[in-house]
Amino acid sequence: MKSSFGPLILGNWKMNSSLSESENFFHSFKSSISNTELEQAIIGIAPPFTLLESVSEYIQKSQLDIILGSQNVHWAEKGAHTGEISALMLNELNVGFSIIGHSERRALYGESDENASRRTANAIKHNIIPVLCIGENEEEYRSQKTKEVVSTQLKKSLENVNIEADVHSELTLIIAYEPVWAIGTGLSAKPEEANVICSLIKNELQNLYALDIPVLYGGSVDEKNARSLITQESIDGFLVGGASLKPEAFAQIIKESICQ
Ligand code: PGA
Repeated sequence: MKSSFGPLILGNWKMNSSLSESENFFHSFKSSISNTELEQAIIGIAPPFTLLESVSEYIQKSQLDIILGSQNVHWAEKGAHTGEISALMLNELNVGFSIIGHSERRALYGESDENASRRTANAIKHNIIPVLCIGENEEEYRSQKTKEVVSTQLKKSLENVNIEADVHSELTLIIAYEPVWAIGTGLSAKPEEANVICSLIKNELQNLYALDIPVLYGGSVDEKNARSLITQESIDGFLVGGASLKPEAFAQIIKESICQ
């Protein structure tokens, strides 16, 4: 079943964009989509930390219906954690969601399920919606271990997360199913295959929490495959990497997602 919050289209800019590039992005994005269209979905963008302040100001000034996101958040409020960012710092900049446990963080920087679960719990505590990423790698996919891997990651990454006790808002948690082999490769998962896994995630979530938790698909989403993915029963939206840096493509993905 679809989430009542959908469609949700979130952009992950990763380690891309200068200040002037982000200004150009918003200039073109604004002329590619109307406010009426934006209001029909939940739209978010997670730029690098250096752009959070300027994008936050821009969103407020231009009254664009976009939620600002960060690409990570730590579990402590402050302290000796070189290279990390705290939820309190993100609160000051009106950050509404935070990507947690992205496969690049897991594979390149050793972030574990346990680590993701501490970050997720702390984000919720500070009223930041965690976008918890899970997904199998290529070898696991080939050996048909996807269901097992995703289900274990989900449970372990939510181990410290007591949503009932921490809840601040209705939309408390988002899960992004991102097969690692589909990220940045141009090889999106087949819509039916992605749907089976998103549906499995929804079933697992129902056993954990009595809440409407949207499940996004991520991995080479673009303006051409968006429609066939969003029309699947259990896909509530997208976490978009590469295509979210292109204003026209990102706007088109939103348009494909709202007119189902
Ligand atoms: P991609 O990245 O859309 O470039 O494949 C998705 C992601 O990493 O979230």
